[in-house]
Amino acid sequence: MAQQKPALFIIFGGSGDLAHRKLYPALFNLYRNEYLDKHFAVIGTARRDWTDDFFRNTVKESLKKFCEDDKIVDEFVSHFYYQSHDVNDSKHYITLKKLAEQLNDKYELEDNRIYYMSIAPALFGTVAGHIKSESLITANGFNRLVIEKPFGRDYETAQKLNDELSLTFDEDQIYRIDHYLGKEMVQNIPTLRFSNPILETVWNKDYISNVQITLAESLGVEERGGYYDGAGALRDMVQNHVMQIIAQLTMKKPTVFNSENVHAAKHDLFASLKVLTSNEVDDNFVRGQYGTNQNQSEISYREGLNIAKDSQTETYVAGKIMFEKGDFTGVPFYVRTGKRLSDKSTRIDIVFKKNETNIFLDSNDDIKENVFSIIIEPDQGYRLLMNGNKIGMESGHNTFELDHGHTKQQLEKVPEAYERLIVSVLNGDQTNFTRFDELANAWKYIDVIRERWDNQEADFPNYRSGSMGPSKADELLAKDGNEWIWKG
Ligand SMILES: NC(=O)c1ccc[n+]([C@@H]2O[C@H](COP(=O)([O-])OP(=O)(O)OC[C@H]3O[C@@H](n4cnc5c(N)ncnc54)[C@H](OP(=O)(O)O)[C@@H]3O)[C@@H](O)[C@H]2O)c1
Repeated sequence: MAQQKPALFIIFGGSGDLAHRKLYPALFNLYRNEYLDKHFAVIGTARRDWTDDFFRNTVKESLKKFCEDDKIVDEFVSHFYYQSHDVNDSKHYITLKKLAEQLNDKYELEDNRIYYMSIAPALFGTVAGHIKSESLITANGFNRLVIEKPFGRDYETAQKLNDELSLTFDEDQIYRIDHYLGKEMVQNIPTLRFSNPILETVWNKDYISNVQITLAESLGVEERGGYYDGAGALRDMVQNHVMQIIAQLTMKKPTVFNSENVHAAKHDLFASLKVLTSNEVDDNFVRGQYGTNQNQSEISYREGLNIAKDSQTETYVAGKIMFEKGDFTGVPFYVRTGKRLSDKSTRIDIVFKKNETNIFLDSNDDIKENVFSIIIEPDQGYRLLMNGNKIGMESGHNTFELDHGHTKQQLEKVPEAYERLIVSVLNGDQTNFTRFDELANAWKYIDVIRERWDNQEADFPNYRSGSMGPSKADELLAKDGNEWIWKG
């Protein structure tokens, strides 16, 4: 993670939630651990009329739980500046440009600029357009655009947004954030696959029976109903995070592990997704929305703040994703994600095929499938389920588990996803960002499901808060003779 560059960060939406909860703490941790070049400055912009001092205090407040050392925090926030700015007003970009130039000289930033879109997606195109028309782009340094999710609401809007951004930025200047790609265990998947021959040789359709990906949350929508009710789990989680995890698991081995090769491999992969027809959706995807819990102490989704009382938005999705060609043709990828489930867990369970022939004539039935699990959060580690003899004189077999969990000391070293991603932006490394063609193919896959669901009323709510989701999600696997490995 070495080789950071001096840079000016211009954060559009600098007074907002994401900036304060994720970006400033990430920048601060990089700063104090010396992963951020001392030559940096941050301009936060938003409409409200703040002074630099007021802004710095809000940033300090957001760092309270990370550091009690006032000296280092003060030193850090002295690099922060505020510019009151309405993104629709061209004049404000002229003031912004002047401030950017001043800070460039003061902090010796070598004309390097990172434009961070931490604002509503509807404004992404407007900002990018003004960055060009008001000449904020520098001639000598780098100019990189970081863009938050959601990138469009479907293929068409994603394409339109991309066209707008492309008028100012080339693809190699655009860093589309999928913060799952910044997670320690998700970044580790290619290394696991391609550096361990005992995994690499069996990582294909000949040996793998099915793959299960779970992104389960125990919390509900809480205060984010306004955003969530217009999005739903399919758009919010499956189109981006789930698809990118699948890509990490299945892309072909690149000749050299760099951004260009990884994205070429992912391109082929996304292009080989078996897109469903509308008639196939009901057999392959299940949606759900949480009701109250057993003792009715939790409110249902529809009772939440800023949520329509008859909302048709799904808070749960389970599905079976397949490929048309390649190393995983015929292998079901069962995915599920939901809110208010029994536990919080992000994990991947890879279920291997059983030996076709079994030489243990007296007891075939107790031999189980090997399962390799990658535990992403909240714990981090790996588990391998294996078969062995029952211990002692009794005949027959038992399973046992090889289990590795990162220790507390190891976990303390794990950076937040945003820290890794910001360093990658500074280093010009796009490996762990989403390229447009991947995202476009993922939308095309999702759009069929969305359209089907938008045209059919759902019988919601259909799962209890604190449960494992709708029973139909279990039936989805049972139809194929499979079952979910993680049972909450
Ligand atoms: N929050 C999260 O956990 C999260 C997670 C993933 C992705 N995201 C994405 O990150 C982005 C920001 O989300 P957020 O939750 O931080 O939103 P937020 O708290 O509502 O912040 C929005 C920011 O935009 C500013 N703003 C609004 N209209 C503006 C205008 N016309 N001109 C200039 N500034 C304007 C707001 O300040 P003023 O009102 O003062 O202008 C505020 O600073 C969104 O694209 C969201 O989808 C957020």
